[in-house]
Amino acid sequence: MLKRPQEEESDNNGTKKLKARLTYPCILGKDKVTGKFIFPAITKDDVMNARLFLKNNDLKTFLEYFLPVEVNSIYIYFMIKLLGFDVKDKELFMALNSNITSNKERSTSIEVSAVQAKVEHEGELTDPLEKKHAVKLIKDLQKAINKVLSTRLRLPNFNTIDHFTATLRNAKKILVLTGAGVSTSLGIPDFRSSEGFYSKIRHLGLEDPQDVFNLDIFLQDPSVFYNIAHMVLPPENMYSPLHSFIKMLQDKGKLLRNYTQNIDNLESYAGIDPDKLVQCHGSFATASCVTCHWQIPGEKIFDNIRNLELPLCPYCYQKRKQYFPMSNANNTIQTNANFNSPILKSYGVLKPDMTFFGEALPSRFHKTIRKDILECDLLICIGTSLKVAPVSEIVNMVPSHVPQILINRDMVTHAEFDLNLLGFCDDVASLVAKKCHWDIPHKKWQDLKKIDYNCTEIDIGTYKIKKQPRKKQQ
Ligand code: APR
Repeated sequence: MLKRPQEEESDNNGTKKLKARLTYPCILGKDKVTGKFIFPAITKDDVMNARLFLKNNDLKTFLEYFLPVEVNSIYIYFMIKLLGFDVKDKELFMALNSNITSNKERSTSIEVSAVQAKVEHEGELTDPLEKKHAVKLIKDLQKAINKVLSTRLRLPNFNTIDHFTATLRNAKKILVLTGAGVSTSLGIPDFRSSEGFYSKIRHLGLEDPQDVFNLDIFLQDPSVFYNIAHMVLPPENMYSPLHSFIKMLQDKGKLLRNYTQNIDNLESYAGIDPDKLVQCHGSFATASCVTCHWQIPGEKIFDNIRNLELPLCPYCYQKRKQYFPMSNANNTIQTNANFNSPILKSYGVLKPDMTFFGEALPSRFHKTIRKDILECDLLICIGTSLKVAPVSEIVNMVPSHVPQILINRDMVTHAEFDLNLLGFCDDVASLVAKKCHWDIPHKKWQDLKKIDYNCTEIDIGTYKIKKQPRKKQQ
């Protein structure tokens, strides 16, 4: 049974006094003057304990343990807060706040213990909120409970860089999940950052910039993709220090697999073995005809892409000419041409073998992930916003005892990493390699290893990592 640890607190003349933490069931006292319900302060520990209890017990046990016999909407709201959530509905939020006061604001300074609060209750425990608000609160509590049950809990004793480097040294089966952030230092934009690819194509006036990678739209009108394809065409034979950090893990026999969402194929240039790599969203490495599925090496259509031409399948070309006799001989992409043929404009068009929205991921992803999540002993997510399923679901599929690390410029708030190393991934990789006394097999390593980094803890398990400014030459 979870009991709150007693917390010591020194009062104003410095003597230590034991301050009982929350005990359960938590009975909310009422402020004698305002009649408002008194909400005790809820700490991160309280939230962690409540979430742990919910995950380790069934729902009935959870509710019976935390709720008193008589409850009302205020208690439902208390449970939502205890699980670390809040209500979003403004009207409901206002209604709650007009009936709640916090310990700090209460008109008397006496610490209300659970027993005392019971005495304070006058008669029946009425519900200060209307039924419509009570219904919304019950729905919100259900959502909060489902969210806790579907997300992992952070490991209680894994939250420093030293924990990470110690685990790295012993790890043998590291699952590395990467996104566009690992290539931005090479000048390749990511997708969702303010300077990302989706903001660059805002001028196209698409309802959703992701439509350029939408399969249905491609089949209707391949020009939507081929008008921008040159912007995502990967550079050849270059890779970042982060790519080489992954190669280093492979050379040390520590890499189980690198699941990359990137289509730039740079992992291969960095020397990551094909059997250690899963390109979850395919890549430009090959291209296929959407009609007859004939496949060719991707670079064969790069010139078409650069010249804004529709790459056409030679085997379907004649048929396509019958369907679209009017289209230009050189197949220049006709934006919004008035094709009134029932045949799709993508007939006989070659498409890079990258996974579009609405398209199944390569079968290799589904085959390997099931085994890898059970085998991995460390999960490191690098340079990704984890916004796109099913790859983003990996963090919820890995067993709860496996440490999870985020190396990213921005926080990913919808996942529960044990350690968040926020900064440029090349910097974080250099810092970690230096702490492990390892060398990253990249041409920049001789310079990178001379750089020192500032590591600022901004919350338990979250660090901001930045290069130290260069010392001025004397
Ligand atoms: N170092 C660390 N993190 C970085 C860096 C960097 N140098 N540059 C960018 N980032 C971070 C950003 O903060 C962001 O959180 O990388 C993340 C990139 O997120 P997205 O742009 O959403 O890219 P990604 O997560 O790879 O997108 C997934 O979405 O559009 C689809 O199929 C596309 O594979 C892509 C998928």
